Amino acid sequence: MRMKGKNVIVTGGASGIGLASVERCLEEGASVVIADLEGGDGQAQAARLDDRCDGRCLFKACDVTDTAQVDRLFADTVAELGSVDAVFNNAGIGGICPTDELEDEEYLKVIDINLNGVFRVARAALRVMYRQGSGSIVNCASILGVFGQSQTAAYTAAKGGVVNMTRTLAIEAAPKGVRVNAIGPGYIDTPLLEALDDDMLQGLIGLHPIGRLGRPAEIANAFLFLASDEASFVTGAHLLVDGGFTAGKS
Ligand SMILES: NC(=O)c1ccc[n+]([C@@H]2O[C@H](COP(=O)([O-])OP(=O)(O)OC[C@H]3O[C@@H](n4cnc5c(N)ncnc54)[C@H](O)[C@@H]3O)[C@@H](O)[C@H]2O)c1
Repeated sequence: MRMKGKNVIVTGGASGIGLASVERCLEEGASVVIADLEGGDGQAQAARLDDRCDGRCLFKACDVTDTAQVDRLFADTVAELGSVDAVFNNAGIGGICPTDELEDEEYLKVIDINLNGVFRVARAALRVMYRQGSGSIVNCASILGVFGQSQTAAYTAAKGGVVNMTRTLAIEAAPKGVRVNAIGPGYIDTPLLEALDDDMLQGLIGLHPIGRLGRPAEIANAFLFLASDEASFVTGAHLLVDGGFTAGKS
């Protein structure tokens, strides 16, 4: 039980990588808050998992674009569970559009969720964790935080920002007992990829030397490591979990 007694918040925890991370933390003994949009799958997923794990899974509605909702998520979690020991700052959306056709509204939406949302959640987490003198924040970045890709100007800008913000937060937080890291997934088989057609998917698979897309559980395992005390000397890292995508071309 690598997370026994720990309280964990996973934003975007209702689906894909977030949901797999919720399940993995529950298996390892943590109490977990699924923080996701009102009206999505979060409530039902939490009810399903809560039955299996003796009441250790909760749902709290939270839109990461709303500072008041993010701050309330942390205040309510501390009031109910007593602490926040680890956070997976994972909520995010995709966005594919030629840059010359990308309107302000869509650009700003991707930035507001994928970059500003990570900031809002990290800030709220730091305030709680500084009081505790301990904690681990894991931000979900991407291979597209270190590589460019055609038609993803907003997404790559956001993920690049997440990678470097992680380093700054890690430096600030280290003296206060808080670690901050990022994970850089390759392409992972989740609903986020539903917008891609078969040819695009086959092309993406070919970019991973391992020869397949990643599985959500493979990112959840990386989160578990960074969230747990096993990573006690790891901070400021961007852990690439990408089937060799960033290693280079064959
Ligand atoms: N799937 C991939 O190939 C891939 C690759 C690299 C990085 N990522 C990153 O992984 C993270 C999770 O993506 P996924 O693939 O599991 O996608 P997903 O669509 O399965 O899950 C994303 C979750 O985020 C939630 N969400 C969206 N907007 C939100 C908001 N404003 N507030 C709160 N929650 C919100 C959604 O409701 C959903 O439950 C994202 O940050 C994504 O950018 C995914």
